[in-house]
Amino acid sequence: MTADREAVALFRELTGSAPFGMWSAPGRVNLIGEHTDYNEGFVLPFAIERRTYAAVGIRDDGRIRVVSSLDPRAPVEAALSDLPALFPDRRDEIAEWARYPLGIAWALLTSTSADAQAVSGVDIALASDVPVGAGLSSSAAIEGAIASALNDIWGLGLRRVALAHAGNVAENTAVGAPTGVMDQMASMLGERDAAIFLDCRSLDASVVELGLARAGLELVIVDTRVQHAHSTGGYGDRRAACERGAQLLGVPALRDLTIADLPRAQLLLDDVTYRRVRHVITEDARVQETVRTLQERGPRAIGPLLDASHASMRDDFEISVPELDLAVDTARAAGAVGARMTGGGFGGSALALVDHALVPTVSAAVEAAFLAAGFATPHVFTVRPSEGAHRDG
Ligand code: GLA
Repeated sequence: MTADREAVALFRELTGSAPFGMWSAPGRVNLIGEHTDYNEGFVLPFAIERRTYAAVGIRDDGRIRVVSSLDPRAPVEAALSDLPALFPDRRDEIAEWARYPLGIAWALLTSTSADAQAVSGVDIALASDVPVGAGLSSSAAIEGAIASALNDIWGLGLRRVALAHAGNVAENTAVGAPTGVMDQMASMLGERDAAIFLDCRSLDASVVELGLARAGLELVIVDTRVQHAHSTGGYGDRRAACERGAQLLGVPALRDLTIADLPRAQLLLDDVTYRRVRHVITEDARVQETVRTLQERGPRAIGPLLDASHASMRDDFEISVPELDLAVDTARAAGAVGARMTGGGFGGSALALVDHALVPTVSAAVEAAFLAAGFATPHVFTVRPSEGAHRDG
């Protein structure tokens, strides 16, 4: 069953009636610009055709009830007016998956003048074909679908950037993952056949055509099936190292530095912090170079930038894992134009830019290499840059 039908079926099971409306938002892949968003720098993600659907009905008792195809037996319910007491202090009382949907409702209520006592209650059934834990932002897709629904139903009148920001607040405070704003922005602003060039300080966004079909290229994703969680461990450590680096170098954020600052940074910082800082500074430069290259020479010319981005994450930022390195190296050896890990790292997916005719060769090579290395079988599939969150019906 397709995810949109599944959401409607779940909604009927939950309430016995048809939903009032359906909203959806996509997962995302980042073309380039990793760990630059919380450093107020540049990113170039695109939304993908895999989406989370929210079938939503209206209740007259001020409560929010959510059910998900991830855990269909256990709807989670709360009074909207209780959400401020639950987040963030008592979030452990809420099932982990449900912190995203309830968290976005909480973030929208706290960031607007909407009165939790006055807005209507909602029943929400969620179903998705964005793989969970693959680094494709299944969480931003949940936040985007529900933010769009509540914005319409509650008449909040928020623009897409504000909805993305609320999703980021939900993730940081309600869920407790110290992530940046890239995923939510990509999910809200995505456009067909294009990437979104985002300045994460001003939140200015522009659409950059990718022209993949014209160039005969495909985007291949290798989900390594190595699971990662950004609410624990390495992600927060990297963010702290970047903030420490910026402070020692006397700037508000690493975004304020350029390649010309590297010699000074090397003198001032310990080796590890220096390499973290060097990744961010060079990655910001690569994002801008990628946008220029796409506009002037087309997608086939960006391969070396993707490759350099991966090397920087592997060697300087140290967020790759053997599965990601193997996926990238094998894809390239089998003829990919360029390849890199994508997303926060420590698992998740790699991205390869591949000639249409070579997709089966690259996929088979990656699967064979994983088998030979004794790794779990990866999921290899293509993605199409697609449109962001919207109302479906
Ligand atoms: C995760 C986070 C994003 C971003 C990337 C790394 O996907 O959610 O905000 O920091 O990692 O670029």
